[in-house]
Amino acid sequence: MQYGHFDDEAREYVITTPRTPYPWINYLGNEDFFSLISHTGGGYCFYRDARFRRLLRYRYNNSPTDVGGRALYIRDGDDVWTPAWMPMKSELDSFECRHGLGTTKIRGSRNGVSAEMLYLVPLGETAEVCRLTLTNESSSVKTLKVFSLVEFCLWNAWDDQTNFQRNFSIGEVEIEGSAIYHVTEYRERRNHYAVFGVNSPIAGFDTDRETFLGLYNGLHEPEAVLEGAPRNSIASGWAPIGSHCLEVELAPGESRSFVFVLGYVENPVEDKWERPGVVNKEPARALMARFSETAQLEAAVAELRDHWSSLLEISTVESPDERLNRMVNTWNPYQCMVTFNMSRSASYFESGIGRGMGFRDSNQDLLGFVHLVPERARQRIIDIASTQFADGSAYHQYQPLTKRGNNDIGSGFNDDPLWLIIGVAAYIKETGDFDILSEEVPFDNDEANTATLFEHLRRSFHFTLENLGPHGLPLIGRADWNDCLNLNCFSETPDEPYQTTANREGRTAESIFIAGQFVYTTPDYADLAEYMGFAEEATAAREHSTQMEAAILEHGWDGEWFLRAYDFFGQKVGSHECEDGQIFIEPQGFCVMAGVGVDDGRALRALDSVAERLATPYGIVLNQPAFSRYHVELGEISSYPPGYKENAGIFCHNNPWVMIAETRVGRGDRAFDYYKRIAGAYLEKISDVHRTEPYVYSQMVAGRDAVREGEAKNSWLTGTAAWNYVAIAHHILGIRPEFDGLRVSPCIGAEIQNFTVSRRCRGAVYRIRVTNSLKHDGPLLKVNGETTKGTLVPYAPAGETVDIDCET
Ligand code: GLC
Ligand code: GLC
Repeated sequence: MQYGHFDDEAREYVITTPRTPYPWINYLGNEDFFSLISHTGGGYCFYRDARFRRLLRYRYNNSPTDVGGRALYIRDGDDVWTPAWMPMKSELDSFECRHGLGTTKIRGSRNGVSAEMLYLVPLGETAEVCRLTLTNESSSVKTLKVFSLVEFCLWNAWDDQTNFQRNFSIGEVEIEGSAIYHVTEYRERRNHYAVFGVNSPIAGFDTDRETFLGLYNGLHEPEAVLEGAPRNSIASGWAPIGSHCLEVELAPGESRSFVFVLGYVENPVEDKWERPGVVNKEPARALMARFSETAQLEAAVAELRDHWSSLLEISTVESPDERLNRMVNTWNPYQCMVTFNMSRSASYFESGIGRGMGFRDSNQDLLGFVHLVPERARQRIIDIASTQFADGSAYHQYQPLTKRGNNDIGSGFNDDPLWLIIGVAAYIKETGDFDILSEEVPFDNDEANTATLFEHLRRSFHFTLENLGPHGLPLIGRADWNDCLNLNCFSETPDEPYQTTANREGRTAESIFIAGQFVYTTPDYADLAEYMGFAEEATAAREHSTQMEAAILEHGWDGEWFLRAYDFFGQKVGSHECEDGQIFIEPQGFCVMAGVGVDDGRALRALDSVAERLATPYGIVLNQPAFSRYHVELGEISSYPPGYKENAGIFCHNNPWVMIAETRVGRGDRAFDYYKRIAGAYLEKISDVHRTEPYVYSQMVAGRDAVREGEAKNSWLTGTAAWNYVAIAHHILGIRPEFDGLRVSPCIGAEIQNFTVSRRCRGAVYRIRVTNSLKHDGPLLKVNGETTKGTLVPYAPAGETVDIDCET
């Protein structure tokens, strides 16, 4: 069942009923100010850090779901309704929500009145603006009262939800004209406030939640609105809100627009006050003046559209399969931008208070983002590397506001360091900016202890080598990519987190995943070492990799697939000898991507085992059989009920590794088939089962052992976005930047016969026409009409256009 459709021309997903199987959301904002907004207007916004600078209060895990943040009420005579459907669940004559690239438009109509809210965060602004357009579609005059509503979060979202003894006494507001200022804590250590204004005179306002709603009322029954009378309340403590009341008269056929601005403003300390006790509102007035006319907002929409067009045209595909085109051209890169911006912090499944930027996650997010805005990728790399420790290990997470490592989570995830090499290599391949390797970057943010970025990579690489176990395979530490495979944890108490609790000292638990990751990383690392003039280091690195590969083949092969790990006691994990959890996806994907076993048939065998044992119609599950009981020696993975999350769920992040591995062994049909099983656009028709947004990837889909097989959770913030982009664009469509040229090596099987790709890279444009006849052993290329050897097209000077014909 479907709840809407793609509008490819407008680059929007059009939701045609408010009753979607889950709130379907969008993200507004590009750099500093972000909003989450659902198709019924729920959500919240924040400046840079979803925990420390949250403007709107939002209640997670609430019932009903997704109330709060913002709302808009219309009073038409005695009839009160909400055009976004929520929070009143008004019966609407029509409803439509268009989630686009950084814009969301929600329109509802009832009794001859249509109300359309267009939301965006304009480029360069720290504000969410909303154009409300009211249209009288009836044949009589309409006299309406419109009530806006936002509920302010007292900035620190964690404190806001826990520290009521303090918070019920600190709320403060100021009013000036049509603008409501949220100034809680401004009198002391904050130099920032929020403003909520509208470009029109108002008939009244409210700033105290209890006065506006009534103490025992929900957002669906606000007393002030139901009675049609704003109370002009001034919040003092309790829960500050912002609500304007507008009186609007519309002749038949008449339309009127209003612009609401919800902004974040920071003042210099010396300019905090206008006069004693009165907040300096100058920057807020300037902000509102920039949106005092509807035309200014429309210009901002156009600017945002152009911005996205110029980003998306960097890499496009035209194929006969419109679902493929819309994923690759629009929605997948869009999600990559969002994961780059948010890491795993704020979504409808991540509270914005729990997690900072992940070292591992952010490095992987770069892979799908780097071609979009390389300058931001560069900064991110420096930020991430600055949290690395001098021994090469890394904080698992850092806070975006301070850019400092997060002590609550600490370190010890032994795959973390290698992701830095993978992220940096992707950046240099895309940009050719080898200079970044010579940047001085601190360890643990200590400016007194710095080294070149290349030295950071060297320490990453050697960290793995210095932490090998009894079989010569990398020690796993707290966990590797699979956060829930906690082989040194032995947790018996429900009150301690698996990821941070004291681990047993042991140097036995080894990860075949990290071993594969090491072999995968080495060629790039060695090339970069050579580039830096460290030829011996490059040679040594390649030798280490050969040894690692030998160790995998000798101790990491189970007969039909790659083992997953050795546990604390030296027992095998992911072997046919195990009670459950006999085969895991991660080492099959990563070892084959690294080329391990490709020459001797083991790679094929491992991938066939994946197909036989792990592949399901909804994607590839993480392991089989699912753990049916808790294994204290394996940790969190066995804590999940069978079929969910890391216990045999379809953890979409790792599916693209298998797709890429399939292309490594030349099986494009299989790679593309796996792709279609998890890519949103192909799942649109089963949205009732899948439940999350059909335009983005979700982290997890319940696996075949689950009670709710096929149901997705945790949409948006997942490494699936970046990796699936890499799988489809770089390996299946087969166009990928390497250090010395653009690789053109499609591997998509027979279904997609011909396609074209346009790819900008390092300032030149490559127009690639692929005739996918599958007649040849490998792709045959003609570059600007000349037959060439191999599949690597040397980079052309910036400004040039290169025409490539590729026949497979
Ligand atoms: C989550 C984490 C990621 C981890 C994965 C598997 O998505 O963000 O770091 O690799 O789970 O456990
Ligand atoms: C839980 C999740 C996993 C996540 C980890 C760290 O274990 O299952 O996906 O990465 O927490 O927060």
